[in-house]
Amino acid sequence: MFFFFSKSYHLLLTISKIYNKHELIICGGITMALTDTYKLNNGVEIPVVGFGTWQTPDGDVARESVKTALEVGYRHIDTAAAYGNEVSVGQGIKESGVNRHDIFLTTKLWNDSHGYEATKKAIDLSLQKLDTDYLDLYLIHWPNPVSVREHWAELNAESWQAMEEAVKAGKIRAIGISNFRKHHLDELLKTANIVPAVNQNYLNPSDLQPDVLAANKEHDILNEAYSPLGTGDLLRNELVAEVAAAHNHSVPQVLLRWSLQHGFLPLPKSVHAEYIKSNTDIFDFELTDDEMKKLDGLRGVTHLATDPDTATF
Ligand SMILES: NC(=O)c1ccc[n+]([C@@H]2O[C@H](COP(=O)([O-])OP(=O)(O)OC[C@H]3O[C@@H](n4cnc5c(N)ncnc54)[C@H](OP(=O)(O)O)[C@@H]3O)[C@@H](O)[C@H]2O)c1
Repeated sequence: MFFFFSKSYHLLLTISKIYNKHELIICGGITMALTDTYKLNNGVEIPVVGFGTWQTPDGDVARESVKTALEVGYRHIDTAAAYGNEVSVGQGIKESGVNRHDIFLTTKLWNDSHGYEATKKAIDLSLQKLDTDYLDLYLIHWPNPVSVREHWAELNAESWQAMEEAVKAGKIRAIGISNFRKHHLDELLKTANIVPAVNQNYLNPSDLQPDVLAANKEHDILNEAYSPLGTGDLLRNELVAEVAAAHNHSVPQVLLRWSLQHGFLPLPKSVHAEYIKSNTDIFDFELTDDEMKKLDGLRGVTHLATDPDTATF
């Protein structure tokens, strides 16, 4: 018993130490759990792990996987207009029986809706599809869609204005960005009244994106880590497997633990109940400094983040 508490307390202290900006809110005692939260720069609390839904087919699969995630304890769901599954995600939330106010729900503005009027419409459409009165977080999905490449900065400013108005209207609790590099963020901040609360990026041992992390830190923007398992590509890596064996945990669990120990907010995706559940078993072990460094050294082992300025979508 004493061992359990002292080990957990040590873990908590270590995480608080490395997580130097966003306050970590611990619910119900000293252990870390899925329901613990980071405090965003606007005071809103966000659960430390989110459930991803990219490439989760609309219909039964999306509905059931969201329901399963909520049943096993996730309280944070990440979707996007572009994923085409907002209706089923909304149904999964309803059918789970979990109170909507106990769930943190994120969706994103797609590349076909940049600009003031289009963003206002996109927000209302997402609210309607998700069948909810409000969003917890709304993100500009990509900063520089190919269709507006000549005018990306101006259109991001317009979209941001529409998002700020939606916050004032009570439709959204926090607004943020995704795939924004420093120059996109700097440009946005020239006209923004609200500093983004979150920047969601490709973050895993194959790409730590140091420039993006530095820019986010400067503005107290939380790093959400998408593709924490490298969209599955990191699951066969030998070094991660060695670390996993040393802790008697699985490769995905080690990758998610690595993300948390960096102070990121990982967004694992799965459509299999056993994986959805096992990806939550990440709070009873701690990677050593040496293991963290070794994993940090895996840059490029699968691939690097997509460059938003040359992406072809
Ligand atoms: N903002 C953006 O531009 C952006 C871009 C990409 C992703 N995201 C967000 O981040 C989320 C996660 O990223 P991701 O979808 O790229 O993938 P990921 O979470 O890195 O990896 C998902 C893959 O790993 C498999 N997997 C998950 N848990 C596993 C386990 N315990 N054992 C074995 N295999 C396991 C999944 O299989 P099954 O699904 O077959 O179970 C799936 O193939 C997305 O769903 C989305 O919400 C955002």
